[in-house]
Amino acid sequence: MKKMLIAGNWKMNMTTTESVKLIQNIIEGIKNKKLLTDILICPPFTSIDAVSKVLKDTKILYGAQNCHFESKGAYTGEISIPMLKELGCKFIIIGHSERRTYFFENDELINKKARAVLALGLSPIICIGETLREREENRTFDVLKRQIEIGMSRIEPENCAQIVIAYEPVWAIGTGISAEPEQVQEAHAFIKGELVRVLGKRASSIIVLYGGSVTDENAKSILELTDVHGGLIGGASLKSDIFLSIIETANSILEK
Ligand code: 13P
Repeated sequence: MKKMLIAGNWKMNMTTTESVKLIQNIIEGIKNKKLLTDILICPPFTSIDAVSKVLKDTKILYGAQNCHFESKGAYTGEISIPMLKELGCKFIIIGHSERRTYFFENDELINKKARAVLALGLSPIICIGETLREREENRTFDVLKRQIEIGMSRIEPENCAQIVIAYEPVWAIGTGISAEPEQVQEAHAFIKGELVRVLGKRASSIIVLYGGSVTDENAKSILELTDVHGGLIGGASLKSDIFLSIIETANSILEK
């Protein structure tokens, strides 16, 4: 059966008070529903503890949006993986395009972080995707290939079950212009092929999420694609009714 993960990346939104309200609304919305899809929330660091307390005794998973690759040390302002692990985080988003663009993260750094996350038994959600310019110059597949080759280097095939990839075309993030289903399917099929080429057969089980202007309106056409195993949702995860509707869509696809 197809597996599905609907993940909300709250980015730098929501104070702790707002986070608690939002998560309470989401819990209320799925109450008494048979959930077939996994749900993950990645709030800002400052809300993780409060959100984790509200999520206790629910099936909703939570994680972080970034981490440092060192476990501790003189890195003012950074957050380590053991700190997040102690809070109960199971997933950490790595290499989001906003971190690549605004904080100059490159594939080598992202690989270091991913390996550190895996070493501590957590799941990295490794984000990849081309810019508009790269797509227009027909370089999409070269970029994805490079991001996968470097991003996955020195990662052991036995870690495949822990890894999540998010395909997020940079031009689709926060723009309201989602990639067309054909573009998404084509990219996901390519990504899955590359993962198997780099990591071997076990990589065929790696979950590949799509992210970039997913809404309640386009969720069905994207989530029902063969090689899409869920969504990494930004703006639409900040409104409980829209996020709940995306969860409902994922659930109904899995019910078929
Ligand atoms: P939007 O859904 O707001 O386009 O953001 C996508 C994203 O960056 C998720 O990580």
